[in-house]
Amino acid sequence: MRALCWNGVNDLRVETVPDPAIVNPHDAILRVSMSTTCGSDLHFIDGYIPTMRPGDVIGHEFMGEVVEVGPAVKKVSKGERVVVPSFICCGECFYCRHDLWSLCDNTNPNAEMQEPLFGYSTAGIYGYTHAFGGYAGSHAQYIRVPHADNDCFSVPEGLRDEQVLFLSDAGPTGYMGADFCALKGGETVVVWGCGGVGLMAQRSAYLLGAGRVIAIDRFPERLRMAHEHVGSETINYTEVESVTETLKEMTGGRGPDACIDAVGMEAHGTGVGYAYDRAKQALRLQSDRGEALREAITACRKGGTLSILGVYGLMDKFPIGSIMNKGLTVRSAQQHGQRYMQRLLDHAAKGELDPSFLATHRFSLEEAPRGYDMFKHKEDGCVRSVFVPN
Ligand SMILES: NC(=O)c1ccc[n+]([C@@H]2O[C@H](COP(=O)([O-])OP(=O)(O)OC[C@H]3O[C@@H](n4cnc5c(N)ncnc54)[C@H](O)[C@@H]3O)[C@@H](O)[C@H]2O)c1
Ligand SMILES: [Zn+2]
Ligand SMILES: [Zn+2]
Repeated sequence: MRALCWNGVNDLRVETVPDPAIVNPHDAILRVSMSTTCGSDLHFIDGYIPTMRPGDVIGHEFMGEVVEVGPAVKKVSKGERVVVPSFICCGECFYCRHDLWSLCDNTNPNAEMQEPLFGYSTAGIYGYTHAFGGYAGSHAQYIRVPHADNDCFSVPEGLRDEQVLFLSDAGPTGYMGADFCALKGGETVVVWGCGGVGLMAQRSAYLLGAGRVIAIDRFPERLRMAHEHVGSETINYTEVESVTETLKEMTGGRGPDACIDAVGMEAHGTGVGYAYDRAKQALRLQSDRGEALREAITACRKGGTLSILGVYGLMDKFPIGSIMNKGLTVRSAQQHGQRYMQRLLDHAAKGELDPSFLATHRFSLEEAPRGYDMFKHKEDGCVRSVFVPN
């Protein structure tokens, strides 16, 4: 089959690779109908997250049609149209039973690669480094889905592929970020980043009761999208003296109740802190540029909630004193897609959530390297490049 492979830093190519096959009795094989880019991919494409190997098939946000099932698969059948969360989960371990799906203990065969940095390893994920399991990704004609009964969710009739695709990753990530804010109704929520994850966090904050959502980015098309599709108020951080001061003014001096980071380790910035981060990241003295996260911490009101969705490794000058002294509640995780999928499918079926506006650009699989290039450089207002492999 044809698949998009990582061959080195900033080197993606479409190649012919072996077709996936049933390896374990709980597996299913899907014919991928749609697959999309994620900001997390940029971290290893740019070389900031290690343990990729040349020839690895990338991609983790996808949906498709079941074409084959292993002998132990009971609930999923051939011909079914399904969407699959990006983290692979067994459904039976301590973490799966506690609804902490991205922490599944049984799906990362390379746990020892994460343990020196994290202490314990996360679940495995499709197409996302060997430290996260080394599974083949979804930018391919076919993909193997382990634990198919647990991880394949049937798509209700009447929903188009673009309306469902983002429930695999960006949708549940954003929803989880808003859920972490434990909203009671009427709160002010600020979201750093207007990529797919940030936009989904903003929409979810309204769905879960926020009175006001403020979105921060520097790309005018993305800010326009946040305003027009979600109803967020917006701040272009390159046009204000200080984001923290602007937020203070917008909230009567108190600061926002909850702050969501949907930026991650490749944050852009304007001040001296950004220059310092860039230099240290380039020299591999730290893995993260932390401008957005630091700002979210200092801007948050006393006793507020900080919800971290952006992916991070190691960061210098982390303002733990601000967290501690202001009594912030910090919530974070890789996305627990299996916890939220049914709720999101219900919202989509009722017309309350339609993430299809994220699909700004559509490509065949052969054109995928160009799709990543546009996504990475935010060319032509690209928010997500969508690939149709078959
Ligand atoms: N927790 C999870 O399970 C999970 C899932 C998916 C993605 N992620 C992470 O979420 C982050 C966002 O993903 P995405 O797909 O939306 O990425 P993206 O690259 O499309 O969007 C990131 C946005 O952040 C903006 N940004 C950069 N610096 C900023 C700053 N200082 N202030 C405000 N905005 C700034 C960029 O302009 C861009 O629009 C990434 O770090 C990704 O790895 C986490
Ligand atoms: Zn992702
Ligand atoms: Zn598990």
